[in-house]
Amino acid sequence: MPDLIHEPVLLKESLMNLIRNYSGNYLDATAGFGGHSSGILDIINQEGTLVSNDRDQDSINYITKRFSENPNMQILKSNFSQISQALKKKNLKLKFDGIIADLGMSSYQLDNAERGFSFMRKGNLDMRMDQQQGITAKDWINTASENEIANVIWRYGEESSSRKIASEIVKKRKIKLIGTTESLCEIIVDVKKNTFYKNKKHPATKTFQGIRIFINNELGELELFLENSLELLNPKGRLCIISFHSLEDRIVKRFFRDQSRIDPNLSRLPNVQDTSSLKVIAKKIKPMASEIRLNPRSRSAVLRVAERT
Ligand SMILES: C[S@@+](CC[C@H](N)C(=O)[O-])C[C@H]1O[C@@H](n2cnc3c(N)ncnc32)[C@H](O)[C@@H]1O
Repeated sequence: MPDLIHEPVLLKESLMNLIRNYSGNYLDATAGFGGHSSGILDIINQEGTLVSNDRDQDSINYITKRFSENPNMQILKSNFSQISQALKKKNLKLKFDGIIADLGMSSYQLDNAERGFSFMRKGNLDMRMDQQQGITAKDWINTASENEIANVIWRYGEESSSRKIASEIVKKRKIKLIGTTESLCEIIVDVKKNTFYKNKKHPATKTFQGIRIFINNELGELELFLENSLELLNPKGRLCIISFHSLEDRIVKRFFRDQSRIDPNLSRLPNVQDTSSLKVIAKKIKPMASEIRLNPRSRSAVLRVAERT
């Protein structure tokens, strides 16, 4: 694997918000290739602990090697919605002073043709972040009903031509199985050929996004992870979430809002106790122009920060 396989996004901003206690416990729920994990390890002292987790075996292999010399680090492979169970399995009875999740795909996943995430690279249509479980995009797209395909592309990709694309997929797969990123991309480009030059985005962007989010249950994972994180945080512990599109960001924004206010159904009653579990610390931190210039993939990143009460 090459040396630089993922440039960490909003690194300074997230570390500044995440770490308040140098001897605390920290969880990097999406370790990827260790950009944020490495930043945390540089700041905490020998009494501090970092748990780095990812669902992708390639990432686990890489960070295991990269941080092999580090005594105050533990590595987990799990879906972050299952992090409590994974900690228990390893007998790690920890609560955290900071939890970070940098959502979505790593550059390595996107740029590696064999993983099948990119319409720009010819590869097997896989798209699973964890290749040891779940259904591949290829198996799904060749078996799902037209209606299901249209709904996924519409709901998770916000693609306005979802019905036409789904209908064309079903027509084409009757002639020949759709097995590669290239063949799926051709179908979409054919349906959307009139919009090709009008939009700056490649016509397959939204469809690929929708299928990827569905195959990895990204939004369901995020919702469960946020719920569970409350149990895992120490009082005053920080939760930092970096998201890359509005579907994710909306979930984070609403969760932070709901957990940081008094239940609106009770708020008008006299003597209501404040039972909120979070305090919002930062609403929408975006990368500076200088970061976007160096790393254009950071342009859609949004960091939100909350603190456990
Ligand atoms: C944007 S990358 C993180 C990059 C990392 N911060 C770094 O600097 O190298 C996102 C990572 O999250 C992982 N991931 C996404 N959803 C996950 C989930 N539900 N559970 C565990 N890991 C997940 C992906 O496999 C990917 O490696």
